[in-house]
Amino acid sequence: MLIGVPQETKIGETRVPMTPSLCRRCVSLGADVLVEKSAGLSAGFNDAEYRKAGASIATTASKVWKEADLILKVKEPLPTEYSLMKEGQTLFTYLHLAAGRELTKALLKKRILGIAYETVEGMDGSYPLLKPMSQIAGRLSIQIGAYRLQSQLGGSGVLLGGIPGTMPGHVVVIGGGNSGAHVVQMAVGVGARVTVLDLDMRKLEALDAEYRGRVVTLMSNPANIEHEVADADLLIGAVLIPGARAPTVVSRKVVKSMRPGSAIVDIAIDQGGCIETIRPTSHEKPTYLEHGIVHYAVPNIPALVGRTSTMGLTQATEPYLAMLVERGVEKALAENKGLAAGVNTRDGHITCAAVAKALGY
Ligand SMILES: NC(=O)c1ccc[n+]([C@@H]2O[C@H](COP(=O)([O-])OP(=O)(O)OC[C@H]3O[C@@H](n4cnc5c(N)ncnc54)[C@H](O)[C@@H]3O)[C@@H](O)[C@H]2O)c1
Repeated sequence: MLIGVPQETKIGETRVPMTPSLCRRCVSLGADVLVEKSAGLSAGFNDAEYRKAGASIATTASKVWKEADLILKVKEPLPTEYSLMKEGQTLFTYLHLAAGRELTKALLKKRILGIAYETVEGMDGSYPLLKPMSQIAGRLSIQIGAYRLQSQLGGSGVLLGGIPGTMPGHVVVIGGGNSGAHVVQMAVGVGARVTVLDLDMRKLEALDAEYRGRVVTLMSNPANIEHEVADADLLIGAVLIPGARAPTVVSRKVVKSMRPGSAIVDIAIDQGGCIETIRPTSHEKPTYLEHGIVHYAVPNIPALVGRTSTMGLTQATEPYLAMLVERGVEKALAENKGLAAGVNTRDGHITCAAVAKALGY
């Protein structure tokens, strides 16, 4: 099997899906690896390190796409890459197809075997390849939000931790899963007032037990959301219904009720976003103002910390990639139900029910 690693193309992306150490592992299992020149530089890995680990270096992306049996990426292919995809090729990456109609069409047309990191399931029903990036995005959302609240940037001028004698900022987190729990951890760390809402009582119970009253936990329903968001200095969207388009949990009317200069970070933007006023932004222009509220909706937040994110991502993907190399794609999918749950497209069909439903297939 030839594994191809093209340079990432999404704006501001710094992660690389294969470290030299993962490359060495794949080569030792019998794979050939072809890495595009400089693909690892933004995460701190140079071409010489990949060569030493057994990879060949390609000077162009088209050579990588053309020769590889399996393309390993971080983010979904962009329109400029659709024509590079090879009929029947295997693609192992984040896909987020529920929010990607054009990409889905391209994958179906080229009959790509698309294995999406985000729907690969662990033995316990968890999503092990989504988890580390959710943790990172969750942690980063507090420093992003704190920065965006600064007066000179058009924010309300609230310091999340406050100082003695002043009211700390109020962070409201909708969704207390992997990313939400890490938002809460950082928000508590900086001394903010924190409210977290979820539909899953077990998530709320776990957060309540961990923070012993330091964090307010609330059932996610329209009345609670309306009440809390109106008082939020920083609102974080962190909901997920696996594979599906994110539900809109905060309406435009509720956004309008927030104090001017307050901020929203919608982590769930990769699945379409969970705030009615949200639309995707990029690292080049990460925010926009609507109704006087700062909106941040970058779909690849972990790229802000390319080195840590690369380590977190590749340590999670390694066992699955090793399985694909060792057993071959077909046997690996037949033997591992969790990995098979990652298959979103195959032979011109959508094979993930939530994606099919979201896109009306
Ligand atoms: N923007 C980025 O760079 C980035 C990075 C990583 C992850 N993400 C995205 O962040 C989102 C969250 O991922 P996660 O790993 O934390 O998911 P998760 O499954 O661990 O947690 C999601 C939580 O949302 C809750 N939920 C579902 N519907 C809800 C509702 N109506 N109200 C309140 N809570 C609700 C679920 O019960 C669950 O606890 C996903 O869309 C993921 O793809 C984005």
